[in-house]
Amino acid sequence: MADALGPRPAAPTSFEIAVVPDAESLAVAAADEFARSAAEAIGKRGLFHVALSGGSTPRALYRRLTKAPHRGAVAWESVRFFFGDERCVPPDSERSNFRMAREELFDPLRIPPRRIFRMRGEDAPRRAAGAYERSLRAHVPGRPPRLDLVLLGLGGDGHTASLFPGTPALAESKRLVVENFMPGSKEPRITLTLRAINAARRVIFLVSGDGKAAVVAGVLQKRGRRKDLPAAGVNPSRGTLLWLLDEAAGSKL
Ligand code: 6PG
Repeated sequence: MADALGPRPAAPTSFEIAVVPDAESLAVAAADEFARSAAEAIGKRGLFHVALSGGSTPRALYRRLTKAPHRGAVAWESVRFFFGDERCVPPDSERSNFRMAREELFDPLRIPPRRIFRMRGEDAPRRAAGAYERSLRAHVPGRPPRLDLVLLGLGGDGHTASLFPGTPALAESKRLVVENFMPGSKEPRITLTLRAINAARRVIFLVSGDGKAAVVAGVLQKRGRRKDLPAAGVNPSRGTLLWLLDEAAGSKL
């Protein structure tokens, strides 16, 4: 039943919280999780379909994955890279999530373009969103497509990917990828919807720093309410959810 908060979410599934001492151990723990998810997916289905997060937090994770022991722990030729969201900017813009992943992960690992499915931030947002949904449906098995792992960050306002409080993307119950915008600046974005995220086999939030402690506590205590805290709408119905925090981000739990 839909209401002012959009379609009513299923009852929250169980989730796991792991707290590690600091940002560096967060990157190591996240890299361990990435390698574990990849090994399971590749072992069972031959490929690993992962959606990368944008923002600054995952930079340390991507760097860690390019170094021993994690570099040698993943069968990179069997990994297909997707994105959770993108700013509507060219791929070489400093604001591009693709550019950050290219610099920190794809180039150091020499990942060929054919294994990278980026959101075309340089195109008109609605057209780019539609094209990405078609690509997701064409390359990721499942109806709806089931990514093996979705990495997410958390904004201070409770947003995740580019699902911002009070924006139309939150109420989307059919499409998997939509155009959206940042409140205030109205900066256009492309984002996976909660329907796409919640179809995943595993979702991991990666959150660091005391600046996020209040919103982490808010989201984990208000699960199921989306309009004000979109991240609380992440609830993989047939998957697992891990909140991976450093002590600073988890300090109000
Ligand atoms: C983006 C991200 C966004 C990000 C959070 C946290 O495109 O910016 O997808 O959802 O994950 O805003 O960002 P930080 O990691 O920089 O704190």
